[in-house]
Amino acid sequence: MRIILSLAAILLLAFAAVGVYFAPNIIRLWSENPSEQQASERKEAEARKTLAFASLTERLPKGKPITPRKGLDAESKKRWEILDQNLARHQDQRAELLKALHEKTRKFFVESPGEGPRRPVWPNPDELLLDEVYKNGDPSQPGLPADFPVSPGETLTRVNADDEFHFYHDIGLSDFLHPFGFGYIKDRDHVAGFSSHGFRNLGVPAHESKRWRINHVQLVGILSHEQPVVYLTDKLPSMEQVRQGKTRTLDYFEEAALPSLRDGEDLYIVSKDDTIRMLGALRATKICQNCHDAEVGDLLGAFSYTLRPAPKETKQ
Ligand code: HEC
Repeated sequence: MRIILSLAAILLLAFAAVGVYFAPNIIRLWSENPSEQQASERKEAEARKTLAFASLTERLPKGKPITPRKGLDAESKKRWEILDQNLARHQDQRAELLKALHEKTRKFFVESPGEGPRRPVWPNPDELLLDEVYKNGDPSQPGLPADFPVSPGETLTRVNADDEFHFYHDIGLSDFLHPFGFGYIKDRDHVAGFSSHGFRNLGVPAHESKRWRINHVQLVGILSHEQPVVYLTDKLPSMEQVRQGKTRTLDYFEEAALPSLRDGEDLYIVSKDDTIRMLGALRATKICQNCHDAEVGDLLGAFSYTLRPAPKETKQ
């Protein structure tokens, strides 16, 4: 009899434990309003359509990237590796959600009143899934492009590519490449949720030295035309805007700077009066090879920057 009693007690305890474990879910199911549930299922089905798998093969530019003639030095290789790791981390974050959406292993767009106040997470998974994390960015050009050199012979001062300039270029690369937009890549013909490279810009980057400020950025395209061209975009460069098809030929500065990037330099910088012009390399890293036919280190494009002195901080 005692054995039966203690067995019953153990069973009761086990049921209680199971009950406690599942209670929050059961309560949530009860409290979920059926119309809310339908709405979230509808949103999910829509997302599955807009973020469907698509082929990028036709879209990818067919031109040949430029292999650096002298190779890259160790410092440069390291910088591109770090960028690659950061891009991969961001891509993974969204790719996982896209995978879950298509495999239906996770629910999206669900308000969960049963779970009480949640700690705010960044990025919000629903916004990340829809690639809306940076929807409040302002991709306007912060200022005007430089108006020099006016002749090929004009003497300009070469400026050393120090940390500050690399800092601006790194931020430019990450912003433009927009790794959240790479999507979930099974292969080039099956990519879910791709959105084009393009600056979203959450603010003009300010380096701690407070010397310079980016005023203008243009994209030098080398993959879509016989000769390199500069895509003319009203806003900071985006492939969406590039599709409007306005281009110009390289100017004297860009002509003079591109050979250095072809050799293997990442930045070529000159100054005149209080304005800086900088050409910065967009090189292929491992992650680009998912889509672009290029060797690691190859030049896929460049940014042509104008920088001017940072505005002086006013004391409050
Ligand atoms: C998920 C696929 C994908 C990945 C990954 C990717 N790209 Fe692209 N890239 C594209 C597509 C597609 C285009 C063509 C424009 C469009 O349709 O958006 C493009 C265009 C470009 C262009 C413009 C070329 C021109 O001359 O018009 C550059 C530069 C570029 N990519 C650089 C890179 C670099 C550098 C990386 C890696 C760090 C990278 N891309 C990773 C898909 C990708």
